[in-house]
Amino acid sequence: MQLTSDAEAAAIALAEGRLAALPTETVYGLGGRADDPTAVARIYAAKGRPADHPLIVHVLDMTAAHAWARHLPPYAQALADACWPGPLTLVLHRSPLAADYVTGAQDSVAIRVPAHPTMRTVLARVAALTEIPAIGIAAPSANRFGRVSPTTAAHVQAELGEVLDEQDVILDAGPCTVGIESTIIDCTADHPRMLRPGAISANEVERITGLPVTAGSPIRASGTLASHYAPAAPITLVLDEDEPAQLADLPADASVGLLALASVPTPPGVVRLSAPATPEDYAQALYAALREADALGLRRIIAIPPPPVGIGLGIRDRLTRAAHPSTRQ
Ligand code: TXA
Ligand code: MG
Repeated sequence: MQLTSDAEAAAIALAEGRLAALPTETVYGLGGRADDPTAVARIYAAKGRPADHPLIVHVLDMTAAHAWARHLPPYAQALADACWPGPLTLVLHRSPLAADYVTGAQDSVAIRVPAHPTMRTVLARVAALTEIPAIGIAAPSANRFGRVSPTTAAHVQAELGEVLDEQDVILDAGPCTVGIESTIIDCTADHPRMLRPGAISANEVERITGLPVTAGSPIRASGTLASHYAPAAPITLVLDEDEPAQLADLPADASVGLLALASVPTPPGVVRLSAPATPEDYAQALYAALREADALGLRRIIAIPPPPVGIGLGIRDRLTRAAHPSTRQ
């Protein structure tokens, strides 16, 4: 496996059917050509991911998105116009381009136009090298199944360095800016359904579409399993408004880590994992902080998420799954 900051090396690898871990503004993805069953099979194998959890197809622009989808309802088009390129994935009726091996044999396909400039360079170069303008890159988060998504190339290396081939590439473009995975909206019904909250909130989707957003069926979204995004240390979530009072009761213990906004003071003796100034900073720091807790061998993580609005809802979603009892060992 080659670790590089050369986007062209990643584009060539992908065009030739190899795998490349790629930076996006949300998290790093493990990419392979979405029109190549062998490359897609290798993505599943590297992640240890069950075959019925479909992948997101990343494309350069709206024209390419239309090639992979059969039909965009007007509200989906409005979302794409308002949010692409960006941290939004739309589940749409698939076109014949989206084969069973990428959609888990469903009649829908998840599509995203990412904003990260390096990722966009890679997509444009793969399109040029293959002479396929609508080329799609299938890319799930570049972690082993059920683990915390990577937000740096070093995280990818720790997760997948052993299982990638010598010919595969990890493209390093620094830390991701958003830090949690894209918002996923199912657009196959007459109104938007939220499959996974992210930087783009349900309120924003309602504002853009003028339609109510309902909770979608989580059946095929692996990121929506009850336990997911899990570090080794058990997480205790503090969701109450009066968290300073609860904090006073914490044991002053160097085996306990605290993750909370900077406005929350650190009790003496407790390891401060991160002190982000804003909810956006919190999302960006979240997964690195969970990894840090494991690297330090902490016994427990106390997490106080930001208020339940905007990206705070996405942060609470991920922390709730990470705190799920079945993830504790
Ligand atoms: O931010 C992100 O979305 C990152 C970056 C790399 O783009 N990708 C990501 O991929 O989080 P992944 O595979 O870890 O999560 C994608 C989720 C999965 O839970 C998958 O089951 C769901 O999208 N999904 C994919 N296709 C779907 C479909 N046709 N219907 C419903 N859910 C789908
Ligand atoms: Mg994932």
